[in-house]
Amino acid sequence: MTVGPTIDPGAFREVLGHFPTGVVVIAGIDQDGAPAGMAVGSFTSVSLDPPLVAFLPDRSSTSWPKIASSGKFCVNILSAEQEVVCRAFASRGGDKFASLNWKPAPSGSPIIEGVVGWIDCDVEQVHEAGDHWIVVGAVRELDIVDPTLPLVFFRGGYGHFSPLSLRAWSNDLVMPLRAADLARPYMEALANQYGSECIASAVVGDEMVLVAAANGGAQRWTPTQVGQRIPFRAPIGTAFAAWAPPAAQEVWLKGADGSATRDVLETTLAAVRERGYSVGRGSPWFADAFSVLARATPGRPSPETSQELRALIALLPGDHESPAVGPERDAHAGISTVNVPIQDPQGATILVLTLAVPNRRNGQLAAADSLRKVAHEVASALVAEAAGAGR
Ligand SMILES: Cc1cc2nc3c(=O)[nH]c(=O)nc-3n(C[C@H](O)[C@H](O)[C@H](O)COP(=O)(O)O)c2cc1C
Repeated sequence: MTVGPTIDPGAFREVLGHFPTGVVVIAGIDQDGAPAGMAVGSFTSVSLDPPLVAFLPDRSSTSWPKIASSGKFCVNILSAEQEVVCRAFASRGGDKFASLNWKPAPSGSPIIEGVVGWIDCDVEQVHEAGDHWIVVGAVRELDIVDPTLPLVFFRGGYGHFSPLSLRAWSNDLVMPLRAADLARPYMEALANQYGSECIASAVVGDEMVLVAAANGGAQRWTPTQVGQRIPFRAPIGTAFAAWAPPAAQEVWLKGADGSATRDVLETTLAAVRERGYSVGRGSPWFADAFSVLARATPGRPSPETSQELRALIALLPGDHESPAVGPERDAHAGISTVNVPIQDPQGATILVLTLAVPNRRNGQLAAADSLRKVAHEVASALVAEAAGAGR
């Protein structure tokens, strides 16, 4: 027997922890007919022909023997919003399915509600590998449930993948906050002039974040708070999406999971580009969205908040923010918001300024004009600052 070099377990974990993994729940049905499952980061695809996947359960796992007894398992790809689900399945013992909804895959193994997708398998081979098993599964059927961002595990923490195409505007809040700082006096002036609220928001990852708010002293139209986040999902956020590079626009278009069709969304983006602003209309939508947000802690949205907001967004038509749709259609909407981007010299949107006005065409045009002037001032100031810093 050859004895290899002694590796310190701490160092082993530390180094391997620098490799990010997705997270799945391997789920099955035990001999008593009860569901069993475990969180697994060691999942991988193995072969296309024949279709095989694999994962590595610890020999000490109590869930794996229960699942193995059925000869089947279902791989549940967790979404970025399912950290709570992951924690439940990483714990030992107890009924991990107690507060979950699930339905059987074709094999009968559980598909957990809210997952990105599932892969239903028969156990094909089980190999010994140190203190783990290597389980190879033959894929019977598979599907995507919701093409949303997956949960990622990296250096002992949870996070989510941020596609480079989503970084079209900003990877963090440094530039948006600087732009908001420059915009603030103008925002205050506009809020006072219109007796309304003027807000600034940025896209970070797959969310729109409210970074500044000026209130004109008038009755507030929404309980907005700096730090609030809403999903950046079609059909909302057109003032960001309209000028985004094709890859980022594609991500936004594909994110539509409701009634908004691609055709209508593309027509809306074209109208936003042509007029230079978008219009968000509908007091009922604001009321619904802000009642969800009011229950969330600013800056610390729960997965439930995000899910509820996404469900509300999915109800909106593709032309919800089109400036080409007359206010008449939404006569019941007392308020509309006019949104104008602040762009850097390359055309990337740093920040979107929003002003709430009564739902009338001339009011929208005037607000768009005022916002465009502010956007121009701020963009010029940013360029001057950058030039100054470069000297
Ligand atoms: C992100 C993450 C990845 C994990 N990956 C694995 C894995 O690949 N194999 C494994 O055996 N356990 C893994 N675990 C731990 C198991 O989920 C956990 O030890 C197991 O479910 C314990 O409960 P059990 O006795 O019910 O199996 C992982 C845990 C987390 C949080």
